[in-house]
Amino acid sequence: MPHSAISRTVAASGPLRGAIAVPGDKSISHRALILSALAVGTSRIAGLLEGDDVLATAAALRAMGVGVERTGDCAWAVHGVGVGGLLQPDRALDMGNSGTSARLLMGLVASHSITAAFTGDASLSRRPMARVAGPLRTMGADVTASPGDTLPLMVRGLCPAVPIAYTLPVASAQVKSAILLAGLNTPGITRVTEPVATRDHTERMLAGFGARVTVEDTPEGRVISLTGEAELGPQDIVVPGDPSSAAFWLVAASVVPGSDLTLRGVGMNPTRTGLLIALRLMGADIAELDARTVGGEPVADLRVRHAPLHAITVPPELAPSMIDEYPALFVAAAFADGRTVARGAAELRVKESDRIAAMAAALGANGVPAREHHDGLTIQGTGGGSIPGGGTVATRLDHRVAMGMAVAALHARAAITLDDASPVATSYPDFFPTLAAATMQEPTP
Ligand code: S3P
Repeated sequence: MPHSAISRTVAASGPLRGAIAVPGDKSISHRALILSALAVGTSRIAGLLEGDDVLATAAALRAMGVGVERTGDCAWAVHGVGVGGLLQPDRALDMGNSGTSARLLMGLVASHSITAAFTGDASLSRRPMARVAGPLRTMGADVTASPGDTLPLMVRGLCPAVPIAYTLPVASAQVKSAILLAGLNTPGITRVTEPVATRDHTERMLAGFGARVTVEDTPEGRVISLTGEAELGPQDIVVPGDPSSAAFWLVAASVVPGSDLTLRGVGMNPTRTGLLIALRLMGADIAELDARTVGGEPVADLRVRHAPLHAITVPPELAPSMIDEYPALFVAAAFADGRTVARGAAELRVKESDRIAAMAAALGANGVPAREHHDGLTIQGTGGGSIPGGGTVATRLDHRVAMGMAVAALHARAAITLDDASPVATSYPDFFPTLAAATMQEPTP
């Protein structure tokens, strides 16, 4: 589908106040659809993120014979076909902007007797797929990719595939999940070792669906072992709020004077809370209220109040648990007292955009000095005052660059223009209306 850019200008706002229910977790929403598709019977999902990325997963599952229907606001029913039951799609699977859809579904196809072509937008077509194609080829799938192991690509699955024991060379939950999903329809034990722990939603949800999966902490790292061929029973799933979407409000309310904002139902899985830790190290005032469990995941309400932020050296070991939150963190650093150094996050170069280059350029265009390293940024903060602003941001098909710089604009002396705000729809379709409500501004068309 051709992409039409929608530019948007964001001006400084008053304090953010009131309460926001952040949308469903993107990672968990993908997994809820996929595992429901492989269960025998009907699963119901509440709180599904209805963003373009998750809808791409839903459409691909439909194309492979799964009944997926919307039954209400963020409520979906999935009529699963059982492990091994996916059908040959009659057209290419369009993954849009979604790396998670592409990589997880490649794993799924790899152990079915079907062949599927995967396409995506310009951003996704630049992202590395060798990290998934490699282990899936070892399991017996035939992956024919474009030069540089990128999309468009074709996966011809093998059934039965060969179980593997694989140690992740990069800290990637998508690679881990692709292998485990391939392992579902593979006889024997598929084992993934992760030297550095990544988000664990796949393992948690596999256990919830009744798969035989074990997780062990060993000197080599976390070892996840899955016994195939699995039989999954249908589930009722409640998707918690996405901490990666909450991130923008945590930063916005921290930096805009007078703010006092409550975020309801935010996922607090420890593999996702790195930004919370980093912001607290910077002096942010964030209280966790009503800690509870939703859908097998820890959840809390977060009350965030404006507070002066101090520059820090971001502990590199936090990177896997805040990998999607660096654009928000960089914006917090722009308002901190001193120079924030965030390194050890080279993976940012291969996200929806090269987030190190994109954020350095975006901040620089708005008067915030940011120096690039191969694995991060050093950012000079204002000490709490507003940033100059007034620049135009190239969002580079990256939702988190767009939302991060929209937050920066809230405390800028001149309005900031996003050359294209449309990517926000991939993970947070209601971002701008929510911003308008929290700042009590009228939304611009
Ligand atoms: C995701 C894993 C992360 C993250 C992405 C979602 C997932 O990617 O950046 O937004 O749902 O598994 P990597 O697996 O590449 O680290």
